[in-house]
Amino acid sequence: MKTLVIVIHPDLKHSVVNKRWIEELNKFPEQYVVHSLYESYPDEKIDVEAEQKMLEKYDKIIFQFPYYWFNSPPLFKKWLDEVLTHGWAYGSKSGFKVSGKKMALAISLGGDEHEFAPGERYKYTLEELTRPFELTFEYVKADYQPFFAYFGIEHNTSVEWVERSVPLYMDFLNRF
Ligand SMILES: Cc1cc2nc3c(=O)[nH]c(=O)nc-3n(C[C@H](O)[C@H](O)[C@H](O)COP(=O)(O)O)c2cc1C
Repeated sequence: MKTLVIVIHPDLKHSVVNKRWIEELNKFPEQYVVHSLYESYPDEKIDVEAEQKMLEKYDKIIFQFPYYWFNSPPLFKKWLDEVLTHGWAYGSKSGFKVSGKKMALAISLGGDEHEFAPGERYKYTLEELTRPFELTFEYVKADYQPFFAYFGIEHNTSVEWVERSVPLYMDFLNRF
């Protein structure tokens, strides 16, 4: 069963990390299906039915995005609001269509890992900062898994630093 990787990056043309990850995923079309929201919906008008049909086809779903203002890029929030509908994702006997599906976030971050901790620059861990995603996916009874995070892009834009992330991400996906 393939893993669906939903990418939420508003500017892939200028992306370094997420673009590199997509390039790697595309080498294994028998394992991964990459669905880029901003590319599919340049006008940000989400085809809710198409998204729901796509989700129904996969049991393992990754949401890959760059961390923006301690959150995801906004199309992910819009996607959650519009796609996880009452009667489909939750709220009735016929709902809970994503129940039991494995879901996880894959996040690239400018900040360094040590900065995301009590007493440090960003005060909170990434686990804490991503609680709304955890609660949303638990609400719809998905099998929410620990995220993959790659930190330090701001201070480390070197090719080596970006390349270092690739086997780490692929290993995470292989074990997902
Ligand atoms: C609008 C914007 C907001 C950002 N906010 C954060 C942030 O809150 N925390 C952080 O660690 N990095 C932040 N960054 C850095 C991005 O996370 C980083 O550039 C991105 O993950 C790199 O991935 P890419 O090469 O695929 O774009 C921000 C970048 C932009 C453009």
